[in-house]
Amino acid sequence: MNVLVTGGAGYIGSHTVHELINQGFNVVVFDSLENGYKEFLPKTAKLFQGNLENKKDLEEVFSSNKIDAVIHFAGYALVGESMENPVKYFHNNLANGINLLKTMKKFNVNKIVFSSTCATYGIPEKLPLEESHPTNPVNYYGLSKKLFEQVLESSKINFIALRYFNAAGAAFGIGEIHNPETHLIPIVLEAALGKRDSIKIFGTDYPTKDGTCIRDYIHVLDLASAHILALKSLEEGKSGVYNLGTGKGTSVREVIDLCKEITGREIKVIEEERRPGDPAELVAFPLKAKTELNWEAKYNIRDIIKSAWDWHSKHKSI
Ligand code: UFG
Repeated sequence: MNVLVTGGAGYIGSHTVHELINQGFNVVVFDSLENGYKEFLPKTAKLFQGNLENKKDLEEVFSSNKIDAVIHFAGYALVGESMENPVKYFHNNLANGINLLKTMKKFNVNKIVFSSTCATYGIPEKLPLEESHPTNPVNYYGLSKKLFEQVLESSKINFIALRYFNAAGAAFGIGEIHNPETHLIPIVLEAALGKRDSIKIFGTDYPTKDGTCIRDYIHVLDLASAHILALKSLEEGKSGVYNLGTGKGTSVREVIDLCKEITGREIKVIEEERRPGDPAELVAFPLKAKTELNWEAKYNIRDIIKSAWDWHSKHKSI
């Protein structure tokens, strides 16, 4: 099968491209390289550097390759930035996504796997989060993803939207880099490496077991395997939205303690005020993906941190 992977040089995209190639898929990566790194791609992946905004770029990649299905990772993913610049998020995550769908229709490609997020749910009314939970996003990032899910539902293209919980971990000699870095695990590991003086805990008065926020961390390799199963399910005619999480929550303090144990380093911790917009707890109910996609997370939080440490402690900079 020939798969076009938008955003395939980014963090989750590049891990998925490695897994696709390992499983015998032919892959064309479409990436602007704004937040992607060609060094992250396996040699056998074909890279087309282009922008979803440009119809010409899209038409060129679809006319010069036979595409059977698309995995659409490309998009912006910083919650804080989306609150400062919502239009940037609607432009890239919604309007540019629509450009992609229009081109798919023009070239008769009717299967897409879409990177969605648990940020579509907003503040949980009931935990763990099931796919049927109301979607009332509390930030523009989550809203842009929710709106694109709705576009997919109305598009008559067969789609599977995967709502990721907290992606983390590393494999294939590549890892997690964001600029600026805002995610907990890379920040804690940078503190362990001495690249930062300390780690700030945003809020210690949440109604959780130790007062800090709880998240469902999911290994990027588990996300990669879910995309491949989603492609297979699309072939079988399945469609819809699926949570990708482990079903187990880990608090910020537990993440820091595990990082101390795994790295063997001291990590200075500063307790700060809450960060605006952080729900106390986000944990997936992952049963739908298990029963319908035959997917289940294989890795736990310890595996995730070990793999991330292995990469962070070796890589210098790109
Ligand atoms: N945190 C800290 N200190 C830091 C960074 C994070 O205490 O320096 C805390 C946050 O307050 C939060 C937890 O660690 O409680 C996890 O924070 P991340 O920024 O790593 O991840 P988020 O849960 O905020 O965001 C993730 C994804 C988003 C997605 C969101 C859904 O990165 O793309 O989940 O809510 F939208």
